[in-house]
Amino acid sequence: MKDKTSYNSNYYDKTEFLFESDAEKAALNEATKPKKTKLYKKIIINCIIISFMIIGGFYSFNILQINKLNASIIKSNSNKTNEEKMNKSSDNLEIIKNNKNKYELIINKSNPLDEYTLNNYVIVDVYNNAFDNIKLEKKTFNEYIKLKANLLERGYFINIKSGYRTFDESNEIYNYYKEKNGLDYAEKYVAKPGISEHNAGIAFDFTISDNKSILTTDYKSDEYLYLEKIAYLYGFIIRYPKGKENITGYQYEPWHLRYVGKDLAKYLTKNNLTLEEYYKTKE
Ligand code: DAL
Ligand code: ZN
Repeated sequence: MKDKTSYNSNYYDKTEFLFESDAEKAALNEATKPKKTKLYKKIIINCIIISFMIIGGFYSFNILQINKLNASIIKSNSNKTNEEKMNKSSDNLEIIKNNKNKYELIINKSNPLDEYTLNNYVIVDVYNNAFDNIKLEKKTFNEYIKLKANLLERGYFINIKSGYRTFDESNEIYNYYKEKNGLDYAEKYVAKPGISEHNAGIAFDFTISDNKSILTTDYKSDEYLYLEKIAYLYGFIIRYPKGKENITGYQYEPWHLRYVGKDLAKYLTKNNLTLEEYYKTKE
């Protein structure tokens, strides 16, 4: 009998007669039949493919939903952080991505200070000042001293009335004005803790006079107008100018100087721009 292991289809056709029994023929036929996938196998394979497609689609859909959810959580968290720190009656100022250096940073009702940035300011004592216990950020102080020297040469006396403030101090000032003059006034003139430039020590409120013993300011005086003109040379700007209340979120504060560095101060002063306007045009 022929060795069945050597069967192949060409050979079988020619050698069919060599098989001795019907059973062997049947076995041979079965073995040489082109292999057709049986219906039930096809159904199972199709079912598996369809299942994979359904699971894959479902998975992709879920990933999409999770991503959407994450995006909305991130968005709502960032809003929450700002809202929590913002004054309640905020003017909805634009949120600006602050990746600038710490002196060019915008700090306002929609752009609070973060703890990391806050810890990067070195705070020092201000000497030679009519008001006690005044502190400033180090570089701001160095430039202030140069500004003061310039003014002294002309016989003008500048003094810092309020410099660096802790969060507690900002809170106290805000509550004081709220009780004294009402919520509306406090919101227009005082920044709550975390959204005040005073918290970074890079801003201060001052008085200027041509009389050493006068510790108030006449904002139409020569000394004030002179200071207004030269402040940028030392890196300072009048941060809350007249006519820009809706942009800055605060009333005109001619007494509040903010250190932004010489280049930016020059640019803002020459172009009559607030920090809010400057960053808006840069977007
Ligand atoms: N007066 C300004 C807005 C402040 O309190 O920081
Ligand atoms: Zn101020």
